[in-house]
Amino acid sequence: MRLAQEEQAMLAGEGGRAVQKAMQILLALGTIYGAERMLPVSSVQIAGVSYDNLGEAGLQFLSEMAEGGGKARVFTTLNPAGMDIENWETLGISPEFADKQQRVIDAFARMGIITTCTCTPYLVGNLPHYGEHIAWAESSAVCYANAVLGARTNREGGPSALAASLTGVTPDYGYHRDENRLPDIGVQVKAPLGENDEFGALGKVIGEKLRSMGKTVPYITGVAHASLENLKSFCASLATYGGLALFHMPGITPEASALQPPAEYISISPNDLDAAHRSMYDADPQEVDFVSLGCPHLSLAEIARIAQLLQGKRVTKEFWITTARPVKLMADRLGYTEVIEAAGAKFAADTCCVVAPIKGRFKAMATDSAKACYYAYAKNGFRTVLKPFDQVVQEALR
Ligand code: F3S
Repeated sequence: MRLAQEEQAMLAGEGGRAVQKAMQILLALGTIYGAERMLPVSSVQIAGVSYDNLGEAGLQFLSEMAEGGGKARVFTTLNPAGMDIENWETLGISPEFADKQQRVIDAFARMGIITTCTCTPYLVGNLPHYGEHIAWAESSAVCYANAVLGARTNREGGPSALAASLTGVTPDYGYHRDENRLPDIGVQVKAPLGENDEFGALGKVIGEKLRSMGKTVPYITGVAHASLENLKSFCASLATYGGLALFHMPGITPEASALQPPAEYISISPNDLDAAHRSMYDADPQEVDFVSLGCPHLSLAEIARIAQLLQGKRVTKEFWITTARPVKLMADRLGYTEVIEAAGAKFAADTCCVVAPIKGRFKAMATDSAKACYYAYAKNGFRTVLKPFDQVVQEALR
């Protein structure tokens, strides 16, 4: 790789130990993937924040980077942590875990990173625009950034995203380059779509089919309308089940109009969607003892809808509402929090049902998220009931 003078100086240790380590990480990555140069980034989002995933080795790495003088050079936010930073006791998190998690957050804060912990950074001000090069790590947000915003990012790991933050650059390969953003398969959707759970099922079908075909960038036709909430659900599912980080959808995503659909295509039928939906409904509804909405983190509009549905009612199950702290603050101001908490539901800001340490605590979870279904079982051992948003709220009241 050809490094600019400033990048060479960082590599030589002129910016301190942490910056040197960061540049070594990026240089190794760039060399592996055949990059010729570094690109400046305007935004970073770091994953690997929950102590449940990081463990002691991860905490030590972050502490060393903070002690080594690392400082964020660009706007940087974090992925969800393992607990609500302010309200962890209500969620049944142990003081020992809370102490470790707080030390992780403190290490990031010492590096000048904004400790807003969310997988929807684009809802809280970390909002790159079309064509910007960025370094994001959360898979659902990476897909949203590439496809919906038209920004350019690879799916970074925790260390490489941190390295981009501390140096302000990332290697020029993968989705930063025009040639890797071209569609390699057409997908004709011949099924009606409405709610997040249906977009999640669509993401599962497309993701699994493309993974088996070795395709990576679908050009998807037949979707007439998709809300922001539908798209965040779709992106999460596509990334989870197919490992995909980019798609094009004419009339909905910004790069589609300049591209030609590939000649090779597959079709998605209503039966395909039904089968995917049923595969994420493997619990007996009587077993459901946990309800969670907010994978990816909820928008303010979704929280308003929950408040409307819970007004004057009382939940009968543990019900987590997961969102970014700034969105929760808006919900506080608008009176939604009061209504929701009066009904007995719990806000779980900064965290989610997957990254919190709740393995084995519940039998079965109701959700509208295909991604949450995958990880709830794989990581926490819960069976799942996938339903439309309003019906998930009703499940908490049953
Ligand atoms: Fe976000 Fe957690 Fe889902 S990080 S995308 S809410 S698994």
